[in-house]
Amino acid sequence: MPAPRRVRFAADGVALVLELPEGSLPRVVHWGRDTGDLTDVDLTALGRVTSAPNAANGLDEPHRVAVLPEAWSGWTGTPGLAGHRLGRAWSPRFRPDQTASVVTTEGLGGSARVHATDVDAGLGLDLEIEMLPSGVVRLRAEVTNLEDAPYVVDGLHLALPVPGHADEVLDLAGRWAKERVPQRGPFRVGSHLREGRHGRTGADAVTVLLAGEAGFDFDRGEVWGLHVGFSGNHRSIAERVHTGERLLLGGELLLPGEVVLGGGESYVSPFVYASYGDGLDASAGRFHQLLRARESHPATPRPVVMNVWEAVYFDHELDTLRALADHAAEVGVERFVLDDGWFAGRRDDTAGLGDWSVSEAVWGGGRFGQLVEHVSALGMEFGLWFEPEMVSPDSDLAREHPEWMLQVPGRLPAPFRHQQVLDLTHDGAFRHVRDRMVALVREYGIRFVKWDHNRDLVDAGSTRTLRAGVHEQTLAAYRLMAEIRQACPELEIESCSSGGARVDLGILEHTDRVWASDCIDAHERQQIQRWTAQLLPPELVGSHVGAPEAHTTGRRLDLDFRAATALFGHFGIEWDLGAASQQERRELAAWIEFYKEHRELIHTGRVVRRSSEGGALWLHGAVAPDRTRALYSVTLLERPVTWPVARVRLAGLADDVVYRITPAGPALGEHTPDPKVLPAWWTPDGADLPGAVLSRVGVDVPALLPDHTALILVTRVDGTDDEAATERSGT
Ligand code: GLA
Repeated sequence: MPAPRRVRFAADGVALVLELPEGSLPRVVHWGRDTGDLTDVDLTALGRVTSAPNAANGLDEPHRVAVLPEAWSGWTGTPGLAGHRLGRAWSPRFRPDQTASVVTTEGLGGSARVHATDVDAGLGLDLEIEMLPSGVVRLRAEVTNLEDAPYVVDGLHLALPVPGHADEVLDLAGRWAKERVPQRGPFRVGSHLREGRHGRTGADAVTVLLAGEAGFDFDRGEVWGLHVGFSGNHRSIAERVHTGERLLLGGELLLPGEVVLGGGESYVSPFVYASYGDGLDASAGRFHQLLRARESHPATPRPVVMNVWEAVYFDHELDTLRALADHAAEVGVERFVLDDGWFAGRRDDTAGLGDWSVSEAVWGGGRFGQLVEHVSALGMEFGLWFEPEMVSPDSDLAREHPEWMLQVPGRLPAPFRHQQVLDLTHDGAFRHVRDRMVALVREYGIRFVKWDHNRDLVDAGSTRTLRAGVHEQTLAAYRLMAEIRQACPELEIESCSSGGARVDLGILEHTDRVWASDCIDAHERQQIQRWTAQLLPPELVGSHVGAPEAHTTGRRLDLDFRAATALFGHFGIEWDLGAASQQERRELAAWIEFYKEHRELIHTGRVVRRSSEGGALWLHGAVAPDRTRALYSVTLLERPVTWPVARVRLAGLADDVVYRITPAGPALGEHTPDPKVLPAWWTPDGADLPGAVLSRVGVDVPALLPDHTALILVTRVDGTDDEAATERSGT
């Protein structure tokens, strides 16, 4: 065998070195910190110093594991492609048909595309391996059945190796109203397997599976993270095998017989994304960069939202909602969203899904149009809630087309929030929803759809194929979104699923923000948003100010804390402002003004996260890409053992730039904290110090009460901020 060709892609401090053997699939030699330029001689030597040794009582010819691992090479871990032709063709060996097509873009990554065939198994494979300018690695595979006899795909996983010092694994767990809770442990021998079988991404979704150096944190320790960009069933695995390899693998989880390829048919895997970083912030930052570089990334300032769900629930009434819109406009809201309960027989959550026409009983006599006009006249956009993939058994749609509900022969899936799933692979069902939605969007000039998805797809088969239906349904939902957006180019879509159960990069190809959780208790939201940020930048994460007493937890929290928490996302309100006092509305208006003033910084800045005082004090920050400005929040979530001396380091600043730090936020008006609990610098003039001091020594913070936040604004004194520079030099 000739020596394999090796290529290095590098972007933003990350390198991916690939080995492209002539007779087998590509293998990763190095994925991690950039090595700097490597000559062909270096690459050959690198290949030699990283090749597996020939162990006693082991493989005579050891092979480095491929991006799509195969058993022929002696690999005993999870296979890349699992499938068969009624028992035959069960262990593929793909050989590239021609040399890989490789494109390298200096400093901006590159890509390798490999077309391979297994003649004996009658299968073709197309592999795409890319390094994007953000340094994120993206992989995808397509398998094609080259014979007439059907080929069953049981699973397709793509894999990236991590080194032997990646000793700990961290991923996310959760449930309804408490999404994205981190869990962490040693990288043990065997598989740390996370399966999502909800037929949606899931409130307990892994989101990002990370392996890293022992003790890695937001600011330190190498970490390697993997994300499966898919909104249906999926699998993420951190696998350590007895021969020493450590891999992160990901792919779609296919139900039995869900994908059966006829002659000439193909299965395309979802994209698997991988982000390396020195510290969790660096890994998250790459995902943010990747998303922000998309053409479809929201380009306009993220409007302040009023969502009426927790204000009125199903109690729709024109006058109440008009009054709510008046209050909303008065405090500075820019987008008014009417939630569930506006259509057909939908007076509570037991009926009506699928019948997408304005309810005559509640909104007849032109009242719906009057609300829309009222909202527009107040200068706000109008948004509307839909749950397009669902159907209530108690609906005209289900009565007319019981066969359009996903089911297995002889029974419907167990009821879940009194609803079933509409099988969008039935052409008629697809067209029904698409056409109703497009018609309503056009008729009422709707600018925003909150696209909900409130049940699991379990026992979910199609009456059309008699097969498991999650795979096709997920693709059909993407198609539905794409077609609606094409027909209504002005429309923005929010991905909601019982709160935050559909947060992934697959859905974000078709949507403009996610609803992170049905829990808007700010104490809980601090955690939910902190970890949603491991994948998504704040401008994509809906974040609302709720009522003083949180509906999901009963916790009472003051307005400053609620608003300061919502600030670091796509800000909104979900609170009956009619029940709020005038004083509360005034304070809320001041927060909205503050959000508008700083949203550009928050929505383009680099996210930094830190904690101190044994995890009781959390720092969250947005640092402008040019590092001239930053906004930090410091939040006390629990009462620490030692107090009140507490210091935070303001991460992300440039060492040699002098900054002015000042207390920030409208809270400084009515709610100036007791001067006895303030550090000396906590004055309107603040203090001027170089970034090196602020980020290494840090600053003392006010002795906060639990569930309270202090905001710190940082602006560059010299250079760009001329006025401040002049002041400082005393001229
Ligand atoms: C889901 C959403 C909520 C709300 C309700 C309406 O639970 O997450 O925000 O829209 O549905 O039924």
